[in-house]
Amino acid sequence: MSEEQKLQEFQKRIDAGEIIEPKDWMPEKYKKQLVRMMSQHAHSEIVGMLPEGNWITRAPNLRRKMALIAKVQDEAGHGLYIYSATESFGVSRQELIDQLLEGKAKYSSIFNYPTLTWADIGVIGWLVDGAAIVNQTMLAKSSFGPYARAMIRICKEENFHKKQGFEIVATLADGTDEQKTMVQDAVNRWWQPSLMMFGPPDNDSPNSAELMRWKVKLQSNDDLRQRFVDLTVPQAKAVNLTLPDPDLKFNEETGHWDFGKIDWDEFWRVVKGSGQMNKARLKARRDAHKNGAWVREAAEAYAAKHKN
Ligand code: 3HC
Repeated sequence: MSEEQKLQEFQKRIDAGEIIEPKDWMPEKYKKQLVRMMSQHAHSEIVGMLPEGNWITRAPNLRRKMALIAKVQDEAGHGLYIYSATESFGVSRQELIDQLLEGKAKYSSIFNYPTLTWADIGVIGWLVDGAAIVNQTMLAKSSFGPYARAMIRICKEENFHKKQGFEIVATLADGTDEQKTMVQDAVNRWWQPSLMMFGPPDNDSPNSAELMRWKVKLQSNDDLRQRFVDLTVPQAKAVNLTLPDPDLKFNEETGHWDFGKIDWDEFWRVVKGSGQMNKARLKARRDAHKNGAWVREAAEAYAAKHKN
């Protein structure tokens, strides 16, 4: 069968809604796109542990501390889970981790913002994990089997992340004036970066067309962003919080919430490395990797000794 015929057969499988497994024939570009997306996703999970980890020692009580420890631990597991999905393509985890440590790999720009108060932890759970749920629920139906299956497990845990975050937000929003101010300030800082998590506008998204043709992405960046806004506006109203967008207005015709312009210059600035925390995040990951070398060496020595 010629390459062209194989490509046609592959597209027929995708159009029929079939799931592609690692051993199946696939265009090189399909594999490249999946490795690109999954490695960035896995890096995002690992780097995403840092902003929240910053508050584990300062959680206001034992219950909040335990929930936050569980959440940060989950994120590590999500990262490892998605790295193993890339390994199903024969791409080594070490290679991807080296790319991150050398500053050559992308991860979600949202994690390059600082967590200034305890309210940030609630708002991250509510907005950042809430956005992740919208995106990952779609990816759970992706054409690549290992990625879609990883999303099913991850989405269950993300729902706990969002619930514990929204409970923190609702508690603060119903608290003292100082707490109300603290949580509104956090919403003001995290709202736009959360909208950016869905990627650039569809007309500036070079990967989307191919990813949608191959049903890796089943909805566009803008559609998912709109879904997230529609879900989140009523939640903010329910706890008397204001989303920082004067143009936010319900559109009776479309049934959606219209929203204002997103600062895409800020988005690309952060993606290109000039965000508030880009350097700190990379340093933290490099330090952890260096300081954790003894654990890897001990595990390798133990595995070598107990090989059979
Ligand atoms: N941060 C950093 N880079 C981003 C980005 C973001 N929020 N959005 C887009 N980009 C990059 C893309 O990677 C691409 O660059 P590349 O070609 O060099 O990789 C470029 O901007 C153009 O964007 P496209 O829209 O063409 O890229 P995609 O089609 O890949 O769409 C995406 C971007 C929506 C992020 C998509 O890759 C995706 O859905 N990825 C899987 C989900 C994911 O990675 N989520 C990240 C958050 S993980 C998380 O939230 C953890 C949770 O526990 C809190």
